[in-house]
Amino acid sequence: MENESIVKNYTLEDDNIIDNTIRPETIVEYIGQQDVKENIKIFIEAAKMRNETLDHVLLYGPPGLGKTTLAFIIAHELGTNIKTASGPSIEKSGDLAAILSSLEAGDVLFIDEIHRMPRYIEEILYPAMEDFSLDIIIGSEGNSRNIKIDLPPFTLVGATTRAGDLSAPLRDRFGIISKLQFYTIEELCAIIQRTARVLSISIDEDAALELAKRSRGTPRIANRLFKRVRDFALVKGNGSIDIAITKEALERLKVDNLGLDNTDHELLLAIINKFNGGPVGIEAISSSIGEEVTTIEDVYEPYLLQQGLLKRTSRGRVVTDKTYEILGISKEKK
Ligand SMILES: Nc1ncnc2c1ncn2[C@@H]1O[C@H](COP(=O)(O)OP(=O)(O)O)[C@@H](O)[C@H]1O
Ligand SMILES: [Mg+2]
Repeated sequence: MENESIVKNYTLEDDNIIDNTIRPETIVEYIGQQDVKENIKIFIEAAKMRNETLDHVLLYGPPGLGKTTLAFIIAHELGTNIKTASGPSIEKSGDLAAILSSLEAGDVLFIDEIHRMPRYIEEILYPAMEDFSLDIIIGSEGNSRNIKIDLPPFTLVGATTRAGDLSAPLRDRFGIISKLQFYTIEELCAIIQRTARVLSISIDEDAALELAKRSRGTPRIANRLFKRVRDFALVKGNGSIDIAITKEALERLKVDNLGLDNTDHELLLAIINKFNGGPVGIEAISSSIGEEVTTIEDVYEPYLLQQGLLKRTSRGRVVTDKTYEILGISKEKK
C-alpha cells in the first residue's frame, strides 16, 4: 500500500534502540512539565469518565522537549493505539484521506511538524476534527461527485515547533493547546539519572548535575551528552561516570558551561563583532553564520532568549550585557 511509509503503528520517531528504551512510556515517568501534565491527566480522566474521546491536543515548543514522547504517553494513558504521520510527508490529499480512514474508534493520530502541512491538505482536517467526517471528491473531471464518509471518533495530537505558523482555522480546532517549557537543572538531572538507571550505568550525583547544567534545558540534549560521556567512561575509565570523565568529555565535545555549542557562540559573536551588538535582522544573522533562518528561530534562539543572552526588539536582535559577560568580551572596546 502506498501510504504504508507514512502510517506507522507504534513506531517511534527515533529508530535507535537506545532512544526507544530511555523514552518514558507513562505519564508518571515523564519528568517536569508539571502544568501540562496535570492538565492532560485531568482531561484524559474526564474523557474516560464520559466515555468520549479526548479533545484534540496541540503540543508546541522547541525541538527535543518531549512533544513526541508526550503524544505516545497520551495514547498509552488512554489505552488506545497511536498512528503517526508528519506534516511534510503528507503530500497529497489522498495520503491524509487514507490515514484518516484507517483510524479505529478512540485512536490517537499523531501528526508531527503539523505546521508544514500544505493548506489544501489541512482543509481536509477541519471536518475530520470537528464532525469526524471525511469529505472527498471521487471520479474524474466532468464526472466527479462529493461524498461524505463518517470517521470513527479519534483524537488528533499535533506537534509543532512554531505555533505561530499554524493557520488560525487549524489552531482553533484544538481543544487543548499546551506549550512545553525548557526544563530546570533539577529536572534534567532527574532525567539523566533515570536514563542511567534504565541503561544500568552508574553516574555520580555531581556528574549528573554537571551534565544537566550543560543540556540547554533540553532532555534530548541531556540524553545525547549522557551517551557520549558514557563512551568516554567506557574507554577511559571503568564504565561508571564521574565528574572528571564528564568534564573531560564535555570539553572535547565543545559544550560550554551554559550548554552553548559552537553555533550558539558563532551566532552571538556575529552579532557582537559584525553588527556591533545589534539590532540586526534575522536574515543578516542567517547569511553571516550560514544557518537557515528557520533553524535559528526554532533551534537556537529560544534557549538564548530564555537565558537572557539575546533579545528581540522591533528593529531586530540585540545581545545583552550578560552576553558580553559570559563570552568574556568587554563592551566598551566594541
Ligand atoms: N519529560 C521527559 N522526561 C524524560 N525524558 C524525556 C522527557 N521529555 C523528553 N525526554 C527524552 O528526550 C528525548 C526527546 O524527546 P522528544 O519527545 O523526541 O522531543 P520532541 O518531539 O519535542 O522533539 C526523548 O527520546 C526522551 O527520551
Ligand atoms: Mg518530535
